[in-house]
Amino acid sequence: MQQSIPLLEDPDTARLPREGANGHRNVYLETYGCQMNVSDSEIVASVLRRAGFGLTHDPERADVVLLNTCAIRENAEQRVRHRLNYFRTRKRKRDQHLKIGVLGCMAERLRYKLLEQEQLVDIVAGPDAYRDLPRLLNEVAETGQSAVNVQLSREETYADIAPLRYASGGVSAFVSIMRGCDNMCAFCVVPFTRGRERSRNADTILTECQQLFDKGYREVTLLGQNVNSYQDGPVDFATLLYRISLISPELRIRYSTSHPKDCSEALLDVHKRQPNVCNYIHLPVQHGNSDVLQRMRRGYTVDEYRALIARARDLCPGISLSTDIIAGFCGETDTEHRDTLALLEDIQYDHAFMFMYSERPDTYAARKYADDVPEEVKKQRLTEIIALQNRISLENNRSEIGSTHTVLVEGPSKRSDAQFCGRTDTNKLVVFDRLSLQKGTYTRVRITGCTSATLMGEVISD
Ligand code: SAH
Ligand code: SF4
Ligand code: F3S
Repeated sequence: MQQSIPLLEDPDTARLPREGANGHRNVYLETYGCQMNVSDSEIVASVLRRAGFGLTHDPERADVVLLNTCAIRENAEQRVRHRLNYFRTRKRKRDQHLKIGVLGCMAERLRYKLLEQEQLVDIVAGPDAYRDLPRLLNEVAETGQSAVNVQLSREETYADIAPLRYASGGVSAFVSIMRGCDNMCAFCVVPFTRGRERSRNADTILTECQQLFDKGYREVTLLGQNVNSYQDGPVDFATLLYRISLISPELRIRYSTSHPKDCSEALLDVHKRQPNVCNYIHLPVQHGNSDVLQRMRRGYTVDEYRALIARARDLCPGISLSTDIIAGFCGETDTEHRDTLALLEDIQYDHAFMFMYSERPDTYAARKYADDVPEEVKKQRLTEIIALQNRISLENNRSEIGSTHTVLVEGPSKRSDAQFCGRTDTNKLVVFDRLSLQKGTYTRVRITGCTSATLMGEVISD
């Protein structure tokens, strides 16, 4: 998914003419992939702004185009290659001075190969090299040669860099709490693109959350590939969450992603005890069959996963759950596929992100197994999974009609300025009349209608 997030326009700098190698340059930054990448782009923007670069939301006014990329599936990379093609054509035909950079996971996966495969790319910078971007940009400007930094780090957490929060609407912000992943799930490229797991210092996280609250933010989403393995000295994830929840009852806290194998009783207990720790967990199961889970090297069985869900529902009644599903993993039989459908039917998630398996070079699955489920079969299975989940999401949403929720008002809805949208504690998007509501405030909403993805409601005063 590409995030269409505008950069802060800075009219003064955006209008400056080009001044050659050492003059002022405007950067256009485009983000692909997960929330982690969105959060990283806010760090990149901050690093560049501090180094004196201008930032523009208009690629036509950019001297430097940076694509912050994703490598999770082949089609994510294809999207980036198309976009690179577009900028390459522009550079060749009418804008020789344009510099093109690839950041993020695709940069890390392909490294120097990117320079060969994608001619006219000037900068390649991996996820741990963002402090070095000003130097890389200057090097390119001065030498006319390409500049590469794909060094992964065991320490870098960008803890001291205040993100430039251009991707947020001022109410809800991402806060990165750890980087990398040590899990090595068989299908996944992330450990290769983001390196070893490391946790950010807890005090800097707490300070950042407090500052966000002071600026009027009312929701933080803590980010990491496996937040449950957060550890800073004695502070584990449950403790961190608890401490952040004490900042203010008015600050909602979410997180993503938690790995089922490390979801602790202490964590569920914080959900139960702290009303501002949202009653929602994204708990990706990936598959409904234990043999497949073992091939995937996920570290839990379907029964263990079911027991965890039962425990979460027991401790936190009404907790909302979402998941990720992969269809057509190596060796998946029709019976195994049906187990995924059965699990979805059983658990009744509110939402799921559903994907066709895409082999990623160098992963355990790519080295050890054949990618042997034919494309049409993968497609067919994914279609069945999506149809089932859409029906379940719709049914779950329908059962909300008539109920009331406390909604954090985020701002205008996508479709109309006359309508506002916000989220329930359970992470459901609700659309309602704007009235005289202010964004960043809480309001009570009665649910009056729905689709499988959105609730419609009316504001009530109680
Ligand atoms: N750290 C998270 C996942 C991050 S990647 C976790 O473990 O839950 C987001 C999702 O992309 C994964 O949960 C998985 O469903 C999907 N995914 C990852 N690699 C994939 C691949 N090779 N093909 C298809 N989907 C993939
Ligand atoms: Fe990938 Fe597994 Fe790590 Fe998630 S936990 S990022 S799926 S290796
Ligand atoms: Fe993609 Fe990298 Fe995120 S591969 S999903 S951008 S961690």
